[in-house]
Amino acid sequence: MVKVAVLGAAGGIGQPLSLLLKINPKISELSLFDVVNVPGVGADLSHINSDSTTSSHLPSSREDKTALASALKGADLVVIPAGVPRKPGMTRDDLFNINAGIVKSLAEGIAENAPNAFVLIISNPVNSTVPIVAETFKKAGIYDPKKLFGVTTLDIVRANTFISQLYPKETKPSDFNIAVVGGHSGETIVPLYSLGNSGSYLEKLSEEDKKKLINRVQFGGDEVVQAKNGAGSATLSMAYAGYRLAESILKAVDGSSGITECAFVDLDNTAIKGAKEAKELVGLGFFSLPVVLGPGGAEEVKYDVLEKASAEEKKLLEVAKEQLAKNIEKGVAFSKQ
Ligand code: NAI
Repeated sequence: MVKVAVLGAAGGIGQPLSLLLKINPKISELSLFDVVNVPGVGADLSHINSDSTTSSHLPSSREDKTALASALKGADLVVIPAGVPRKPGMTRDDLFNINAGIVKSLAEGIAENAPNAFVLIISNPVNSTVPIVAETFKKAGIYDPKKLFGVTTLDIVRANTFISQLYPKETKPSDFNIAVVGGHSGETIVPLYSLGNSGSYLEKLSEEDKKKLINRVQFGGDEVVQAKNGAGSATLSMAYAGYRLAESILKAVDGSSGITECAFVDLDNTAIKGAKEAKELVGLGFFSLPVVLGPGGAEEVKYDVLEKASAEEKKLLEVAKEQLAKNIEKGVAFSKQ
């Protein structure tokens, strides 16, 4: 019996993500929470003849905390795509002022009502919202770093697609599983194309094309923001990516071994194997790295990718670290206010 709650379920990401979760046979109860429109989304999804039940939770006022509590009670996994998305010209950091408060209040709700749940943060800026959730959980005394994940999966999904598009005859996107490390915005996103089976394809590119490819992964979200022309950012590809991470976690919880996904996790703890060594290499409390998943969540971070990265990638990592440090600090400072 697995209960999954989606907070922000009526949004652009929330709706397709909920649809995918609705058809996952491992999920027995899908619980949808939003501050608008969620009864309609829930009624619609509830007609699907998969075996899970669907419930919708809409607060009656800003002060009403009972809807969030009932959405979260007993949840095993919580996904958060709540908040505002970018418009053209905005960076993810521009969303901080609105989304930081939303994520903090939802984290307080989780601490109170679902303290043992796996928590997946989609709301941007992920580089800051994940530290906010960690601090909120610490304050509540329920923090388990192995269960908190910043969702950077879309960067991996894009990295796989974009390199394959350069070699349409020889490759398919599914041939790749690029390690994308660092954070989740612009230059904090570092795809390690030199590693694994993408290495030989990367080598065949000119220096200029290599730069273009990396830049496309780092700023791929902007392509969608511009194409949507004011109507938001990536929602469908993001729902797919968020679902991929949720599905992998559910599989690992169910006993599948050897599942690894990149995610933005806490390195400031000894609960996750390799976190201490990774922290020594990057000097930051949070970083996205390949994470080995197990029944307890993030079992191990694979920091060896940082050592194996090419000289060019190591330079990109330095740039990423500098920005990421500020983003993390901003989140920590906010939650201590
Ligand atoms: P959206 O505006 O379509 O949906 C957001 C939903 O959150 C709305 O339904 C809204 O009512 C709801 N919401 C607002 N305050 C809430 C609260 N206090 N509690 C519960 N729900 C609340 O936005 P969209 O496109 O779904 O994006 C959501 C977030 O995901 C944004 O912050 C966006 O930047 C982020 N995002 C993250 C990505 C990633 O790779 N991690 C990729 C794309 C977007």
